[in-house]
Amino acid sequence: MLRQLLPALLTALPAFSASAADWQQRSIYQLVTDRFATTNGSYPSCDTEDRVYCGGTWQGVIRQLDYIQNMGFDAIWISPIVANLEGSTGDGESYHGYWTVDQNSLNSHFGNESDLLELSSQLHSRGMYLMLDVVVNHMAADTLPPDYVLFAPFNAESDFHTFCWITNYNNQTNVEQCWLGDDNVPLADCDTESDYVIDFFYKWIGDLVANYSADGLRIDTVKHVRSDFWPGFAEAAGVFTIGEVLDGDVDYVSTYTEVLDAVLDYPTYYQLFYAFESTSGSLSNLVSWVQQSQSTYKNGEFMTGSFLENQDNPRFQSVQTDQALVSNAISWPFIQDGIPILYYGQEQGYTGSNDPYNREALWLSGYVEDKPLVKLVRTLNAARKAAIAASSDYLSTVLTFPSVTSSTLAVYKQPMLALLTNGGSSSTPSWSVSSTDYSNGEELINVLTCDTLTAGSNGAVSVTGSEGMPQILLPTSVFNVTYCNELLSTY
Ligand SMILES: *[C@@H]1O[C@H](CO)[C@@H](O)[C@H](O)[C@H]1NC(C)=O
Ligand SMILES: *[C@@H]1O[C@H](CO)[C@@H](O)[C@H](O)[C@H]1NC(C)=O
Ligand SMILES: *[C@@H]1O[C@H](CO)[C@@H](O)[C@H](O)[C@H]1NC(C)=O
Ligand SMILES: *[C@@H]1O[C@H](CO)[C@@H](O)[C@H](O)[C@H]1NC(C)=O
Ligand SMILES: *[C@@H]1O[C@H](CO)[C@@H](O)[C@H](O)[C@H]1NC(C)=O
Repeated sequence: MLRQLLPALLTALPAFSASAADWQQRSIYQLVTDRFATTNGSYPSCDTEDRVYCGGTWQGVIRQLDYIQNMGFDAIWISPIVANLEGSTGDGESYHGYWTVDQNSLNSHFGNESDLLELSSQLHSRGMYLMLDVVVNHMAADTLPPDYVLFAPFNAESDFHTFCWITNYNNQTNVEQCWLGDDNVPLADCDTESDYVIDFFYKWIGDLVANYSADGLRIDTVKHVRSDFWPGFAEAAGVFTIGEVLDGDVDYVSTYTEVLDAVLDYPTYYQLFYAFESTSGSLSNLVSWVQQSQSTYKNGEFMTGSFLENQDNPRFQSVQTDQALVSNAISWPFIQDGIPILYYGQEQGYTGSNDPYNREALWLSGYVEDKPLVKLVRTLNAARKAAIAASSDYLSTVLTFPSVTSSTLAVYKQPMLALLTNGGSSSTPSWSVSSTDYSNGEELINVLTCDTLTAGSNGAVSVTGSEGMPQILLPTSVFNVTYCNELLSTY
């Protein structure tokens, strides 16, 4: 009996089986490979405005894995790895990796096959995951019409949708079948209705995952491909998939939660940004978007990637540098239902605005770890890990909001109570939560300062803060004072 069942079971398991549930416990550091670290540790100049390769490599990432792991991250998301358009275009060089010309070759600016394999194995020996970024919607050209023979493997016009620019985002056919890009770099839209194109991509993604032992995939421009292309693609990949659906509308994004494991949580991202970018931002809008997502997405908010910054949007500190507001905003991805994603450089206080300014070289920061935001991130990762370890239900408990005022917000998921405010550094916030699951007299700690307090009857928590800073509370039985002080003092 067992002998008969075994082969069937084995073939049902993907070769590399980091599942959605495995990823849910993780926290992801997103880096732009060209801008993160160099092979020999040199610090070449890098003017973002030039939009040229600055010299970051996969070997550079290996060199700086301690820096990432010391902050408590256990997964990284790197730039797309395949060969891109070479040379300069009217929009600069393809240092970001999103302008594919050859799906079967690696981008030699970042290293070679053995470098990437080494990165993958070094991550795995540290117990960390590798997330690859893939683009299947389009290939990039520097002429219109493209010189199709330069593409691999799709080297014929017939492998692409007939040229038209996307002009109407309310017309889904237009969004899926017309082209992104501009006259400098038109993005030829792959004909993902063609059997040849579909068969190639489904085989390709399985091979890509297997070749580099990837643990997960971030998928670019998901809304620009028909949604029923994705289940087969995700199945062929056999690992966790998280899709970029760049839209602030919960109902629109929700449809893609049915076809991939996860989505990047753009709707919440916008509300998070608005809520903390000024002292008049709306915390109740943030709450209402989250609650709408919790009830609409296939897996609620659990299978979302939560972020404050990424390579396509202005950094938070390009609009707001009050460190109290910054600290509150940075805390959010680590206290909500989904998977935290931190975009490299945020921890170093980078302030770049829109692309290309938000892709600064991290080596220019010196990778200094004794910095307030680096420590904040390390503590936030540690607090989330402690909450997960303390409660087997933590990852399946839906976040609630026991108190919302115009400038304060209490975010609760046993055993963590996070108290946020957008009052800014000149404010003295106070929060009052009348009931929680803490017991009467239970000792709690604010992990950001290591100060302790005591819960009242019904687990009530009343606390006055200072200088507009957030407070992240856990029982001292889960996160003790010694550990807290250690996190704040060592680097
Ligand atoms: C590091 O590598 C760069 C680029 O390959 C090279 O220009 C530089 O001289 C090297 N620096 C050192 C200290 O080896
Ligand atoms: C790949 O690049 C490394 C340097 O990063 C070099 O030592 C190695 O020989 C290269 N391997 C191949 C197969 O070209
Ligand atoms: C939607 O876009 C497609 C592709 O551009 C076009 O053929 C079609 O006419 C558009 N539909 C409407 C209703 O505008
Ligand atoms: C995977 O590796 C095989 C064998 O080296 C190679 O032929 C194939 O092109 C690779 N595929 C991808 C997507 O990396
Ligand atoms: C404090 O927490 C740390 C980290 O969880 C743990 O290793 C240590 O044993 C704890 N100490 C006490 C006294 O509970």
